[in-house]
Amino acid sequence: MARSDTDSWDLASSVGATATMVAAARAIASAEPDPLINDPYAAALVRAVGLEFFTKLVDGEITLDGELAAGAELMTGVMAVRTKFFDDFFRSATNAGIRQAVILASGLDSRAYRLPWPQGTVVYEIDQPQVIDAKTATMAQIGASPTAERRTVAVDLRDDWPAALRAAGFDPTAPSAWSAEGLLAYLPPDAQDRLFDNITALSAPGSRLATEFHPDIAANLRERGNAMSEQWRQHGLDLDLANLWYAGERNSVAEYLTDSGWSVTARLRPELFAEYGRVFPSGEQAASQRNSQAIVAIRN
Ligand SMILES: C[S@@+](CC[C@H](N)C(=O)[O-])C[C@H]1O[C@@H](n2cnc3c(N)ncnc32)[C@H](O)[C@@H]1O
Repeated sequence: MARSDTDSWDLASSVGATATMVAAARAIASAEPDPLINDPYAAALVRAVGLEFFTKLVDGEITLDGELAAGAELMTGVMAVRTKFFDDFFRSATNAGIRQAVILASGLDSRAYRLPWPQGTVVYEIDQPQVIDAKTATMAQIGASPTAERRTVAVDLRDDWPAALRAAGFDPTAPSAWSAEGLLAYLPPDAQDRLFDNITALSAPGSRLATEFHPDIAANLRERGNAMSEQWRQHGLDLDLANLWYAGERNSVAEYLTDSGWSVTARLRPELFAEYGRVFPSGEQAASQRNSQAIVAIRN
């Protein structure tokens, strides 16, 4: 179904199902030999959603072949690197003394339960209400406890989320660490700019921000999205990725943040792979992701 300005979802539908998709990739990446990441909650979180395709994937009950296998392998590798990138970002931010973190579009991210947050750290998670509620319930059911003070902010990121975040106790006068992981493509281009305007307004000097930017999303990923959705449909999963992403030109995040008063470092995805001792795949499926940038910014 096409996107609308007020659409909503749970973890089994629309944009919400993409949170389940990437959690499945984290579960699979965590179970690999010599894994780059360890997300011990991802598989249980995926099973609780109940989308059969992803449950069977994490339980090893589906064998993929051909293009679909190559696509799944690519996604698992990319998600492992992406997860480590954001994990390292938060570790570095807290090592620098930051004690409030904001995970935007938190989905099934389990960082509030698995990272070694220093005493006194508050982790805010923002996502749509059904997503927040489902994760909170599953984590409680499996007996997982947050490793920081976890505060959930159930709000749409197209609404007045800064007010909701402040109401939850966020202190804009203290430095903060922000992640926008797997989010930008699901916002229209102008909403992406507004998101960063809001973050900038809430960020005291020394605050940090990590995100990823995919310059080729409009052109290439739409085609890839269609191809992936078609293959998934053959396994009974109806998730129309290309229709969930917003096409159209968007501002370069690195430039936008620089102009907004941040010092920005951007690394291309293949560089990040190399840094973590992995080789970025050379196949055609990976081509559209070759120019993706992993961005860390520090507020001046
Ligand atoms: C691909 S998932 C990424 C989830 C998580 N960041 C991760 O990497 O595991 C996209 C997430 O963005 C959230 N999202 C997208 N648009 C949103 C919006 N307008 N308001 C709140 N959440 C949104 C979805 O609910 C979903 O959890």
